[in-house]
Amino acid sequence: MEDLNGEVALVTGASRGIGAAIAAELGSRGARVVGTATSAAGATAIGTALEAAGVEGCGLVADVSDSESVTALFARLEADGHTPSILVNNAGITRDGLLARMREEDWQAVVDTNLGSLYRTCRAASRAMMRARRGRIVNVSSVVGSLGNAGQSNYAAAKAGMEGFTRALARELAGRGITVNAVAPGFIDTDMTRGLADAHREKLLEQIPLGRLGAAAEVAAAVGYLVSPAAAYVTGHTLHVNGGMYMG
Ligand SMILES: NC(=O)c1ccc[n+]([C@@H]2O[C@H](COP(=O)([O-])OP(=O)(O)OC[C@H]3O[C@@H](n4cnc5c(N)ncnc54)[C@H](OP(=O)(O)O)[C@@H]3O)[C@@H](O)[C@H]2O)c1
Repeated sequence: MEDLNGEVALVTGASRGIGAAIAAELGSRGARVVGTATSAAGATAIGTALEAAGVEGCGLVADVSDSESVTALFARLEADGHTPSILVNNAGITRDGLLARMREEDWQAVVDTNLGSLYRTCRAASRAMMRARRGRIVNVSSVVGSLGNAGQSNYAAAKAGMEGFTRALARELAGRGITVNAVAPGFIDTDMTRGLADAHREKLLEQIPLGRLGAAAEVAAAVGYLVSPAAAYVTGHTLHVNGGMYMG
């Protein structure tokens, strides 16, 4: 299926995990893919992975928590003639801790990287999309934004905020033919969840009706649907991919 031919997809945090799977999915469907990492080595690795998969595109360095870095990224894309028609806000971090002991810098880093980033990237990307009167934005949220999770007040707040942002921007941009949606993964097998203690993992599995962690490719498939022509009439939606853990 080459339904994304002619599209340019910007995927933040494409060096690993879910972002790498999204880059591969959109590339396999014909999009040119620009993936970002926070380091030069990560950006090079993205370029190598895309090339090995026969996908046109490259890796670039960007820090989504830094306005200057995001501005420079979009200036570079425009200069290269690769202004994105698809934006996937996937980059994210956790800095877990009970609120009573949470340092303000851990609150700030999580809110800024997961939620503040949307202000920067969506603002920059939507300018060209509005001119073109078309475009697709997908924000990668989390089941934790709906369920909450002890020790993740910063992350849950940021992810719930992303979903509110998604609905507001969907209303703003609908008249210009641009859709804005979110995908909320449950617990997915990536670096982010590999650090979980075995006991915690067992307890988690009991809460997942499908009885297993999800695969990054299963989240990428949901993103692939939302950016495809088939999803033209879907906007402001949060698509849950969580093995039944939350059925909102
Ligand atoms: N894994 C899960 O179970 C799960 C569940 C629900 C939601 N999610 C969400 O899915 C997204 C991807 O998660 P993942 O599990 O694939 O995470 P991951 O394996 O930890 O990868 C995170 C990605 O984000 C990038 N990144 C981190 N900070 C950044 C910054 N300041 N600027 C730009 N890029 C940055 C990383 O780049 P570097 O490689 O350069 O560090 C990396 O590519 C996140 O938004 C996460 O919250 C994950």
